[in-house]
Amino acid sequence: MDKFLWGGATASYQCEGAWDEDGKVESMWDRYLHDENLENGDVASDHYHRFEEDIRMMKEGGQNSYRFSLSWPRIIRNREGDVNEKGIAFYKKLLATCHEYGIEPFVTLYHWDLPQYWEDTGGWLDHGVCDAFAHFAKVCFDNFGDQVTYWTTFNEPKWFVVNGYFIGNYPPCLHDVQKTMIAAYNVMYASALGVKVFREGGYKGEIGVVHSYTPIDGVDDTIETQIAMRNADNYSNNWVLDTAVLGEFPIDLITRLSKDYDISFIKAEELRIIKKFTVDYIGLNYYARALVKPYTTGETQLIFNHTGKKGESKILIKNWFEQVKDPNSEFTQWDTEIYPKGLQDGLLKAYKKYNVPIYVTENGVGVREDVSVDQVNDDYRISFMNDHINALMNARDMGADIRGYYAWSSFDLYSWKNGHEKRYGLVAVDFKNGLVRKPKASYYWFKDVITSKGEIIKRREL
Ligand code: BG6
Repeated sequence: MDKFLWGGATASYQCEGAWDEDGKVESMWDRYLHDENLENGDVASDHYHRFEEDIRMMKEGGQNSYRFSLSWPRIIRNREGDVNEKGIAFYKKLLATCHEYGIEPFVTLYHWDLPQYWEDTGGWLDHGVCDAFAHFAKVCFDNFGDQVTYWTTFNEPKWFVVNGYFIGNYPPCLHDVQKTMIAAYNVMYASALGVKVFREGGYKGEIGVVHSYTPIDGVDDTIETQIAMRNADNYSNNWVLDTAVLGEFPIDLITRLSKDYDISFIKAEELRIIKKFTVDYIGLNYYARALVKPYTTGETQLIFNHTGKKGESKILIKNWFEQVKDPNSEFTQWDTEIYPKGLQDGLLKAYKKYNVPIYVTENGVGVREDVSVDQVNDDYRISFMNDHINALMNARDMGADIRGYYAWSSFDLYSWKNGHEKRYGLVAVDFKNGLVRKPKASYYWFKDVITSKGEIIKRREL
């Protein structure tokens, strides 16, 4: 596995802290979590002040890449697009530190922290935000272009759009299909505009999109289940990946939605931009697949588990599909199925359909852990990562062009609505005790995986 990118991933809001320092303005998550009095990322892992230590530990852990995001409200001060030079200086320093330690930066422009000054006029429902995103992207390409080769427009459009506008567990906490469609369209158009700016500016490197990938399985192979699977695939995957890679929204999805909703917000000239400016690669974040069956009788129910009490979550969408639990599978306390075969199947399927290079940009398991000990012995994470890297290697052996693997997360950080107690890091951060960093057993094991170029992975067929 020569030239393979091995590393960890983070996101600005989840790790930086310093929420109002050095000219950073409020993001929609700052406003929402402060207003609701919920656990927030004001300090998080304090990466803003400790990034040098964090990046040094990546190097010492044998990693050769770091996936992170840039905070739009740290870089652009207002709706007029004025630049915060201190924000630029911070990321230049962070990028220079990556290079000093031989760590390849893999940079996401947008990982959910929309400036509040855009949320004030409707956020992703305000079409003006698309051009504002393109301006932000240009400022980043101009300032950091000589330090970055791998760019991502958006992290997980499906996740933040559906959670924000349909399920309602993320800000702006809406339950509105029409608005979900508008936000989804604006995000995918903004992503294409980001690619356009990149191509027209002649910047070096590659640009892609990162998707929260949910490969779909059915409970049986009846026609009804196959229809439910297609519905689930359109809901979870196709509107992001087809649009970003093939340049087209899935036609059956648009036809179906147009029967019940107004799609006049879709503009022909913008579809031409989406068609023309497609991505170079896809990043797939894999946590679990969805096992589905038809759902035609009851009402829509969407419940997300943010408490870590097993058994709370539900996804049932009337006349679309129901997500069910495989009785033979193991689930985390947050109801995430542990199913490495889904990664192997999903990678093969995505490569066959899209035929572009793939990076596994996030994979990990969130658990409660006692980090007061000298070293967290996280054998469950080692076994989880072993089985998923095995799945990735199997897919590579079967011909899929997979070029990197990023553990979520490089170190413990703030897990959105789950607060800080749902830990994913290779390095423990003691949030209650001076934010001290301590590598977990998985950090050392991952180092051995990388040094051996994957040879120490326990391989098996799935
Ligand atoms: C991905 C996101 O959806 O999953 C991350 O890109 C997120 O930002 C990760 O933290 C794990 O999800 P959660 O909700 O358990 O933190």
